[in-house]
Amino acid sequence: MTLPIKTAPSILSADFVNLERDIRALGPAGADYVHVDVMDGHFVPNITIGIPVVAAIKKISPLPLDVHLMIAQPVRYVEEFCKAGADILTVHVESDIPANIRAALEKTRALGVKAAVSVKPNTRAEAVLPYLELCDLILVMTVEPGFGGQSFMADMMPKLRTIRGWLDEKNPGCELEVDGGVNEKTARLCKENGANVLVAGSAWFKSPDPAAFNRAIKS
Ligand code: DX5
Ligand code: ZN
Repeated sequence: MTLPIKTAPSILSADFVNLERDIRALGPAGADYVHVDVMDGHFVPNITIGIPVVAAIKKISPLPLDVHLMIAQPVRYVEEFCKAGADILTVHVESDIPANIRAALEKTRALGVKAAVSVKPNTRAEAVLPYLELCDLILVMTVEPGFGGQSFMADMMPKLRTIRGWLDEKNPGCELEVDGGVNEKTARLCKENGANVLVAGSAWFKSPDPAAFNRAIKS
């Protein structure tokens, strides 16, 4: 199955003083999702935004919210993020024991939200195997999670390709997302290796013409 190529600008690089303006501009520029990075200062060494901000964004965003939880033991907060308006909710496989990751995915789906897992650069592809059929999206990190503006890790491409292969067999409709250092050049590599959802933070918001950037990374 060939899935449509989608873009998901990460608002971590938006102007937080003008967050509404920046979010409203994403749809007209051709974005498909709004990527929202939630960090707890524990699972990753940075703190960003939480549940009330997700709820506020939901009120003004015409695009689905792709919420990327970089928090420890995310099952504790699944219900609140789903109720706040996440359309896709991603948890990291490294953030809890497997039974709790499974519970987080099941809870997410039971609330009518798309469920996803993510893997950090040092985590092997095999870590997603127990969850393949429970996911609507799998996120392969192409930087160490925590901060925008880092360099793309091209050595994650074999992992991407491996996971796409497993999905084609077991869950062909499942989306495959990349996050970290995505720009015009690296987007091509990601697509060649099976990614169909491209997160871009700094490259999107630094671009003088986001619509042109969107077309460039999609094509
Ligand atoms: C990093 C976040 C990313 C980040 C991407 O931990 O998950 O979504 O905002 O930013 P860029 O595109 O600048 O690497
Ligand atoms: Zn992210």
